[in-house]
Amino acid sequence: MKVAPFHVVHRKALPGGYVILRLSGEALECEPGQFVMLRGDWGFSPLLPRPFSLALVEGPDLTILVKVIGEGSKRLAAAQRGDVVLVHGPLGTSFRRVAPDERVLMVGGGVGIAPLLYLAQASRSAAGGGLVGVYGGRSRRDLPMAAELAAAAESVTFVTEDGTAGEKGLASRAMVEHLARTPFDRVVTCGPWAMMATVARLAAEAGLPCEVSLEAMMACGYGICLGCALPATDGGYVYACTDGPVIDAGRIVWGDQPEPSLGTEAGKDRKKREGSGTPADKKGGKRT
Ligand SMILES: Cc1cc2nc3c(=O)[nH]c(=O)nc-3n(C[C@H](O)[C@H](O)[C@H](O)COP(=O)(O)OP(=O)(O)OC[C@H]3O[C@@H](n4cnc5c(N)ncnc54)[C@H](O)[C@@H]3O)c2cc1C
Ligand code: FES
Repeated sequence: MKVAPFHVVHRKALPGGYVILRLSGEALECEPGQFVMLRGDWGFSPLLPRPFSLALVEGPDLTILVKVIGEGSKRLAAAQRGDVVLVHGPLGTSFRRVAPDERVLMVGGGVGIAPLLYLAQASRSAAGGGLVGVYGGRSRRDLPMAAELAAAAESVTFVTEDGTAGEKGLASRAMVEHLARTPFDRVVTCGPWAMMATVARLAAEAGLPCEVSLEAMMACGYGICLGCALPATDGGYVYACTDGPVIDAGRIVWGDQPEPSLGTEAGKDRKKREGSGTPADKKGGKRT
């Protein structure tokens, strides 16, 4: 795990504020589900790198899917061919490898497709088991990399809330239909908090193990700032960057949506227990 300069070798802008970047640099040893902290040569604002999932890894090339949300993602998405991007990683946990005889249902929403695409691609190249996908978004343009996923997975059901692509409805409804039709051994999911909470509940009701890939706000990405804490079912906290991003759904207190923003409280709580200050305390849990 280190920070290395990569160059943008390909950039593709998609409708809806999505950009696919291919970065080339030193070959990294990565596993599907891991992420990298990225920062361009953009001065002090924003200061901190931003976390992004690895969507594909091919030799020295990393493919990243960026949705423009705020300043960091806007600047990253604006990177042009030849620009340098500093890559810190790979970081965090990964999905369990898919065994050849294993049936895995993956449920993705929006940019949550990135780590699932990498998993499907890696499983296909390693002659692993078949991954059946459900990929949902608000509308057609919120299904970036749909073609890549269709090529990597055994089959994919596309779902949009407005019916502009695939079936009209929610990914969770398509998941229920899949579970009713086919036996699966495991569920993997990444996407908006509310979607993952529902997927986790449905998987538990079906008695299936479920791995979720968390997309909590992160400041450091490797366990120092305590800003990515989420309440855990054991009464403590899990840290999305080091206990995750891929984690057993049963370890998370899903509660009611939206995603809890407990970085600061968790940091304070740990500070009380461990008697040390944290960067998250000093910054009030915000990142710049
Ligand atoms: C492990 C991991 C993998 C990720 N993978 C991808 C990916 O493949 N593609 C992608 O487009 N994005 C991904 N994200 C989310 C991405 O990191 C954020 O969109 C990005 O950091 C936003 O930074 P910004 O400077 O543009 O926005 P900021 O200025 O930091 O924030 C703008 C607004 O968005 C909110 N916000 C920012 N990040 C998040 C978040 N993670 N969850 C909820 N609200 C948030 C802030 O509260 C603020 O209101 C991932 C996040 C994590 C933790
Ligand atoms: S992001 Fe800093 S501890 Fe997780």
